[in-house]
Amino acid sequence: MKSLCNLPVRIAGLGAYVPDKVLDNSMLEQMVDTTDEWIVRRTGIKERRIAAPRQATSDLAAAAGRKALKAAGLAARDVDAVILCTCTPDHVFPATACIVQTAIGAVNAFGYDLQAACSGFLFGLMQGAALIDSGMAENVLVIGAETLSRFTDWEDRSSCILFGDGAGAALLQKESAPGGGEVVFCEMGGDAARADILEVPAGGSRLVASEETVRQRRHYMQLQGREVFKLAVGKLGELVDTLEEKTGVDMKDISLIIPHQSNERIIRSVCDRAGLPQERAYMNIERMGNTSAASIPIAMEQAVGEGKLKRGDIALLLAFGGGLTWGATLLRY
Ligand code: ACO
Repeated sequence: MKSLCNLPVRIAGLGAYVPDKVLDNSMLEQMVDTTDEWIVRRTGIKERRIAAPRQATSDLAAAAGRKALKAAGLAARDVDAVILCTCTPDHVFPATACIVQTAIGAVNAFGYDLQAACSGFLFGLMQGAALIDSGMAENVLVIGAETLSRFTDWEDRSSCILFGDGAGAALLQKESAPGGGEVVFCEMGGDAARADILEVPAGGSRLVASEETVRQRRHYMQLQGREVFKLAVGKLGELVDTLEEKTGVDMKDISLIIPHQSNERIIRSVCDRAGLPQERAYMNIERMGNTSAASIPIAMEQAVGEGKLKRGDIALLLAFGGGLTWGATLLRY
């Protein structure tokens, strides 16, 4: 999907929630053969948040969603649609979005789950903006929420160091003020040719759960990190080139890049290739790790809270992840 869309849709409110429990690198040193020094040097991550045993994805999502509604000053009953972006739903069905709807009291909404792994929030943002622009909805709550810790193999040092749990949400509304919030450009893509480098192999209709799949640890995420790393750097660089070509935007006019927080080295490589000063890329990976679909909305909420993203600023959101999927969204906040 490629488009220069210029949709007059704004983010009226943002919210984020992360669980209280912190898992830092020294704790991981006790669990697998690794060191704080290795993890920080290769990924930039020092700690990540882990959901409490009683917390499922919908609990994190509902907490973030409520905060976004509060920030927008909107009652839950006025929400028309809840788009829940996640690859770690509460169940195969019902949709986690429906559970969230009920939890927050969005009784007049319809809700559905959207699965595009780490790119999920950008896909959701595009769909939410399109619903509003078409007149089919006025208030759309887009939430990225994940409990990746439940699908992490805590005996696999090459992947367990990366992931954390959390949720971020954005309440979208039509923008009526000229020069106000706008979704300027979206470029999304996907290709399953290399889906095997990042997957949870079992538990779906292809490989149903059995004693054998459990014994073989096939319900946990399998990651070929080096392959994902190379493809991510290449694809994100291409996305920036496409964006420049199609919009004519100059990278120096972008106030802030908010990339999916996958690896500090991936983000730095993309900045170097795009000729962007590193300080213009927002990073919270040190404290959050990779929270997949939740990472961009959590980062946005924190960037706004820290005064790094202000109304009227142009922000570039970039993501790459399982599927494989990828996306770039340019918006005026
Ligand atoms: N501690 C110490 N050593 C380790 C660890 C660890 N935790 N993990 C791996 N190693 C070792 C390996 O065994 C290997 O040793 P060897 O050379 O003796 O064989 C060495 O370190 C190098 O391993 P690589 O895998 O090549 O390390 P790399 O520099 O690529 O870093 C990493 C690995 C951090 C996983 C990186 O490849 C990465 O971040 N990839 C991207 C992951 C990602 O972005 N995922 C996003 C999508 S998630 C989603 O969509 C849900």
